[in-house]
Amino acid sequence: MRSKKSIRSGIVGAGFAATFHYEAASKVHGVAVEVVGVHTIDEAQGKAYAQKRGIRFFERLEQLLDAVEVIHICTPPVTHEPLAIAGLKRDKFVICEKPLTGYFGDGSDSFHGDRFPKQVALDAALASVDRILQAEAASRGRLLYAENWVYAPSVQKEREIIEKTGAQILWIHGEESHSGSHSREYAFWKFCGGGVMIGKGCHPLTAALYLKRVEGRARDGRPIRPAAVSARTHAITRLPNFRDQGHIRCDYYDIDDFSHMHVVFEDGTIADVFASDIVLGGIHNWLEVCANNHRAICNINPNNMMQTYNPKEEYFRDIYVVEKIGTKQGWACTAPDEDWMTGYPQEAEAFYRTVAYGEPLESDSALAADAISTIYSAYVSAERRGAEVPVRVF
Ligand SMILES: NC(=O)c1ccc[n+]([C@@H]2O[C@H](COP(=O)([O-])OP(=O)(O)OC[C@H]3O[C@@H](n4cnc5c(N)ncnc54)[C@H](O)[C@@H]3O)[C@@H](O)[C@H]2O)c1
Repeated sequence: MRSKKSIRSGIVGAGFAATFHYEAASKVHGVAVEVVGVHTIDEAQGKAYAQKRGIRFFERLEQLLDAVEVIHICTPPVTHEPLAIAGLKRDKFVICEKPLTGYFGDGSDSFHGDRFPKQVALDAALASVDRILQAEAASRGRLLYAENWVYAPSVQKEREIIEKTGAQILWIHGEESHSGSHSREYAFWKFCGGGVMIGKGCHPLTAALYLKRVEGRARDGRPIRPAAVSARTHAITRLPNFRDQGHIRCDYYDIDDFSHMHVVFEDGTIADVFASDIVLGGIHNWLEVCANNHRAICNINPNNMMQTYNPKEEYFRDIYVVEKIGTKQGWACTAPDEDWMTGYPQEAEAFYRTVAYGEPLESDSALAADAISTIYSAYVSAERRGAEVPVRVF
């Protein structure tokens, strides 16, 4: 057995994603990972995060970069490009949360997501991707794209089936939906680079792009890439006649809360990806693959690994059931280990093995770039009410 290599890492950001990234990094077993510290712009939050975990708080990003080989970018999307480039310039391995980057407006107070040409967003997002890819090409480090759906156990099992059976995927459909994000910033295009189509749609989309990549790689030694996209977006909770009954978040400023992307790959096969913030009953994340030799339904969440029936809400007061469930009463797909089904620990394990031993990287910057290119082309299509738009691949 080889001896474990030691790797020092740091977290940037101290919110929701920073919490599950730390948990996942702590569970890596093939590499001796030492998370030495955290950096965030919110000093009080950063210090509390550090104290809780017995790690250092770094006031400046540069100090953290000096102390580690790997950083985890767990900050809002608008900050990803500068942080990733800063890490790559110092030859660090950069684990970057989704989406890789995007277009965050023109900086003016009057900027509104409904009222600007989406071609501007596409051009700016692709330019941002270009800058990140160039920084990576010039670096001894690497960008590891934290798309957990790639590492979800059901998606990895599907990878194995495709590789071993030489399957041709004909149609993929999938969805990520729930009743609304917890984050205040999520309501604004300027912080997140769009609405639900990028924020949630990126997950099933990237899994679909990944599996077509796997198919091409296994059969012909080269990935099958996206070629064109048609899309619709809607702002259902901003409709004047939306009737709020208190179950669905509805305070969005200028973003879409429903989206559908129809992707055509270069081999003519297709994927349909739904994402929305208008679905009750807990998180609804799934991917179905219809191939020429099999069919697979990859349930990310909910999962029926465990089901519970609770006759009275109060019995489960201290029990975590499943993400975004509105009530704990009645039947539920209770999650014994939601992080595992979602792919967070498997993602961290794979990333640290790439860093320490050079093992192949499944979710890399090229996959992230294809996702950004497809999504912003989809915003252009949605502006044209579904007309097909070509996807530029890097
Ligand atoms: N993969 C997933 O399942 C998943 C789930 C949630 C969020 N995310 C992604 O994680 C990222 C963070 O989202 P979140 O929900 O944790 O947000 P959050 O608001 O909970 O936390 C963001 C943190 O970043 C810090 N921050 C902001 N700007 C910074 C800067 N310039 N430098 C350093 N720190 C800065 C904030 O102080 C805060 O600590 C986003 O890209 C989001 O899309 C991914």
